[in-house]
Amino acid sequence: MSPTGSKSRAAPPEVHPMRMDEVWKAGTTWDEAFQRDPLVNYIRGRKQTYLRRAALKMTCRIIILLWRHNEYILSVEGGTSIIVAHLLQALGQGWKGKDREAEEKMNKAAEEVLGDRVKEMVYVGLLATSPKSQGHGYGSALLEEVTRIADYYGQATWLKSSNIRNTDFYNSHGFLTVATATIGDEDPDWQEWPVIVSIMVRQPAGRPECQSK
Ligand SMILES: CC(C)(COP(=O)(O)OP(=O)(O)OC[C@H]1O[C@@H](n2cnc3c(N)ncnc32)[C@H](O)[C@@H]1OP(=O)(O)O)[C@@H](O)C(=O)NCCC(=O)NCCS
Repeated sequence: MSPTGSKSRAAPPEVHPMRMDEVWKAGTTWDEAFQRDPLVNYIRGRKQTYLRRAALKMTCRIIILLWRHNEYILSVEGGTSIIVAHLLQALGQGWKGKDREAEEKMNKAAEEVLGDRVKEMVYVGLLATSPKSQGHGYGSALLEEVTRIADYYGQATWLKSSNIRNTDFYNSHGFLTVATATIGDEDPDWQEWPVIVSIMVRQPAGRPECQSK
């Protein structure tokens, strides 16, 4: 914060394609950034042993390694912040249990409002900044780079936001909520509020407003 109370911005961070030597840190970033995410808490449960956390971090690293082959992954500061964008997105499938419930409901909400256009849109599958480095402009720089590419190709961009706290952040980058999915509302074991996932879309700059299907 500046003395006047407004947010002061440092120089924008250097955004680059994720390197192989950043995969380890990127996996840690992903795991730690989503530690308090409502949907992740619903799927994984809040209490996790040290061993389970270590296994989850390793799983994140393996998934990122696999993604390197066909996804567009950008990084800041050695993997302190990462974004994963799918340039052509098929709706996910094949999950089990609560993952499956969440995926099916989110896909249904997205399909209803986006229809087949989803196949021509850029999809942001993951955006995460290490908790200690949040608020320094890393996430914005990564998102701006992906939306710059989407603008270049005249493509809309969409994402699923699993934390209502991020809505203002995405709004400030031009994303608008076009649908929501309610997760956990039919689960008798889930004692907390259902998790609301927002389907958010950003039109390419200079293009007309989002048209319904
Ligand atoms: C959402 C998330 C990716 C944002 O990443 P980030 O690196 O903190 O993003 P930024 O620093 O660019 O912006 C965050 C806020 O800090 C502000 N900010 C940016 N640069 C700043 C700076 N230099 N000084 C002060 N504030 C700054 C931004 O204006 C923004 O404020 P806003 O939310 O009111 O718009 C990050 O909070 C995160 O990883 N959260 C957990 C995982 C998650 O929810 N991911 C998204 C799933 S849908």
